[in-house]
Amino acid sequence: MAKIITFISGKGGSGKSTVIVGIANELAKKGKRVLVVDTDTGLNCLDIITGVGEGVVYNWGDIFSDTCEVSDAIYPSLQIENLFILPAPKDYSKIFKESILKDLIRLISGNFDFILIDAPAGLGKNLTLAIEPADEVILVSTDDNISLKTGRRAAEIAENLDKEASLIINAFRTYPVKNGILPTVDEAMDTVELGLLGIVPFEANLSFNASQGIPFTENTRATEAFARIANRICGEKSPLPEEWR
Ligand SMILES: Nc1ncnc2c1ncn2[C@@H]1O[C@H](COP(=O)(O)OP(=O)(O)O)[C@@H](O)[C@H]1O
Ligand SMILES: [Mg+2]
Repeated sequence: MAKIITFISGKGGSGKSTVIVGIANELAKKGKRVLVVDTDTGLNCLDIITGVGEGVVYNWGDIFSDTCEVSDAIYPSLQIENLFILPAPKDYSKIFKESILKDLIRLISGNFDFILIDAPAGLGKNLTLAIEPADEVILVSTDDNISLKTGRRAAEIAENLDKEASLIINAFRTYPVKNGILPTVDEAMDTVELGLLGIVPFEANLSFNASQGIPFTENTRATEAFARIANRICGEKSPLPEEWR
């Protein structure tokens, strides 16, 4: 059975989709079979970031409306072995039923080692739908009080569903923290009231690659951070670099 992890955020643009793909790549490189499920209906972009965009015909909305088989809507990454994508429909209000996604994820979880769910931004019922199937939840936030405070609200929803949550600080820059402009790592953890799973540095190339569907394969500080987080998710020790401690 797969370990199911839902990635949440308060406000959009915290880098949730980018971080999921970065971690999924590293888990796949470790030989794990990884499925990334997009639930950000309307704003879905995982197919673009993973480079399968052009080939996508079906999504999980089509599974529920009996337009296709489950396997038709699961796309292998063209660049990374062991990585698969289940895209989101543009809208699924017509087929919405409680726990519809949970039942699907359960059905397919025997085929993967990890299922990573990209939750929608915001606090609506779609967030609950994305959290319900999870064994654990990861909040992705940038290091600023708006992202952290809205992230806290999303974490409360996970806690109300009895899910353990931890924090990834994304797009981290040391200069504004050292100069007192942005919160320290400890302050960020206090604001979201969560333990730290990892820190991903700001990396301009990530944005460029993500928008072009180029995999994050070159060794950068961000890919190294994704690899450390993937190790921790697999239960291995992988300490933070000295500069962030
Ligand atoms: N660590 C990072 N360094 C630099 N840019 C990043 C980083 N993480 C994400 N981005 C960029 O930030 C923007 C929002 O990221 P995205 O993953 O789409 O966020 P979300 O899914 O939370 O809305 C994108 O342009 C993305 O490329
Ligand atoms: Mg996104």
